This record gives sequence, structure tokens and C-alpha cells, in this order.
Amino acid sequence: MSRRSEPSQRESPTPKPNFGEAVGSEAQYDVFADEYLEHARDGFYNAHYDRPACLALLGDVAGRDVLDAACGPGLYAEELAARGARVSGFDQSARMVELSRERVPGGNFRVHDLGEPLDWVADSSVDAVLLALVLEYVDDRVAMLRELRRVLRPDGALVLSRPHPTGDWLRHGGNYFEPRVIEEVWSRGWRMRYWLAPLERTCEELRATGFLLERVLEPRPTAAAAHVDPERYERLSREPSGFLAIRAIPDPR
Ligand SMILES: C[S@@+](CC[C@H](N)C(=O)[O-])C[C@H]1O[C@@H](n2cnc3c(N)ncnc32)[C@H](O)[C@@H]1O
Repeated sequence: MSRRSEPSQRESPTPKPNFGEAVGSEAQYDVFADEYLEHARDGFYNAHYDRPACLALLGDVAGRDVLDAACGPGLYAEELAARGARVSGFDQSARMVELSRERVPGGNFRVHDLGEPLDWVADSSVDAVLLALVLEYVDDRVAMLRELRRVLRPDGALVLSRPHPTGDWLRHGGNYFEPRVIEEVWSRGWRMRYWLAPLERTCEELRATGFLLERVLEPRPTAAAAHVDPERYERLSREPSGFLAIRAIPDPR
């Protein structure tokens, strides 16, 4: 099922949430959190495509305070802790938070919705925020990014990944430039609602919330991925149909 949003007639490029349609605050991943862990732990898209890209953008995290926003089952947190980071994280799904706690006993995890202010995180207290594969589920992304900007230290960085907008458009068609919420059922039977939005929208949301883009990666699968799934490896090595990863830094101006 897919619905269209009103076409934007605004002259200002400052992005605003379209409350006419929304993903909402239901914890969509909660019912299949354990299955997601199985899927993402060694699976092609997460282990061989998204995580290597975001971890590369995060760089050396040893001794750093890293906030894993929408931490899922703790796969990133586990790797960040192994690299010497002090990890805190949160997720909308209570089961995901349990899985993170089991996986990373030294981490600090809680249930929290990105739609709410991070009032338990002090200003300028975090070296890096990771926002992996969740942007598309958040309705008011500007408010969320503003909060993430607030908690980052001036020399910190936000690393995010999202579905590649070109791939989204190739799959769903319609007007590439028009953000809209779609609903679909994934191959494992997971019913998902999420935003499609052009690359420009993500860049403008980052600009509007005080970030400068430092790097944009269109990841390719790792060499090891060729043995995991040769057909997918071949396809994602030439097509922009997977994910996109961005490193953005607080704009000092
Ligand atoms: C695709 S998973 C990614 C998990 C993790 N970041 C990773 O890459 O392994 C998306 C996660 O975002 C969480 N999520 C979705 N909407 C959220 C929201 N509004 N606030 C917090 N977490 C949310 C889901 O519960 C799920 O754990």
C-alpha cells in the first residue's frame, strides 16, 4: 500500500515534516527482533555492506563516547565496544534493548523513541552518534537531528545510513522528489511502514539542523561478500540499490 503526500509548493528549502502522513510510533521491529538479530548478524546487507561502511565512517572510537541511536539488537554496539568505545544506546523496541543488553553487558541501553527529546543526554556529551538504518522510520527527522546535534561535542560526528534513494525510486517508482510513506511486506513476512525521501531531503535536513556533510559513501559490498552471495555481490557492486552512508559534523558557524 502506498499513498502520496501533498506536493510541496514551498519556496524555502528548509525541510518540514509532513504530518499529513506518518510512520507513527508503533515499535514495528518488536515482534521480530530475535529474527532480525539472526538475519543481521552475518547477513549480506548488514554484515557485509552497511556495518563496514558506517564503521569506516566512525573511524577510531577507542576511548570515545558513542551513542548508538536505534541500536537494534546490539550488533553495532558489540563491535564499537570491541573497538574500545564507551557505548550507550537506545531503541524504540523493548526486545531490541534486551538483546543489546545481553550482547553488550558493559553498554548502557534504554527504551526510547527517536520522536522524543533525548532529555537524559546532556548537551555536548557525546563524541559520535550512530544512526544506522533508522532515518526512514522517523516522522519528524528535523527535530530528531536537532537533538542529535545538541548532544554531540563540537568535534564530534554523526554517522548515518539509510536506503539508497535511487534504489528506493527504482523499486517504488512515482515521483522521486516527493517524500512519502510506503507500506510493504518484506520477504520474511515483516510488514513495514517507512519514508521514501530523495537524497536532497536528507542533505537539507542535516543542513537545517546545524550539520555539515563531511563524507557521503555509496558502499560496495566487502570482498568477503562475494562468497556469501555471488549474485547479490555482483549486483550491488554495480547498482545503487542498497544503502547510503553519511558522516556529518557540527557546523561551527
Ligand atoms: C533496521 S533496524 C537497525 C538496527 C541497528 N541500527 C542496526 O543497524 O543493526 C531499525 C531499528 O530502528 C528501531 N527504530 C525504528 N523507529 C524508531 C524510533 N522512532 N525510535 C527508536 N528506534 C526506532 C527499530 O526498533 C530497529 O531496531
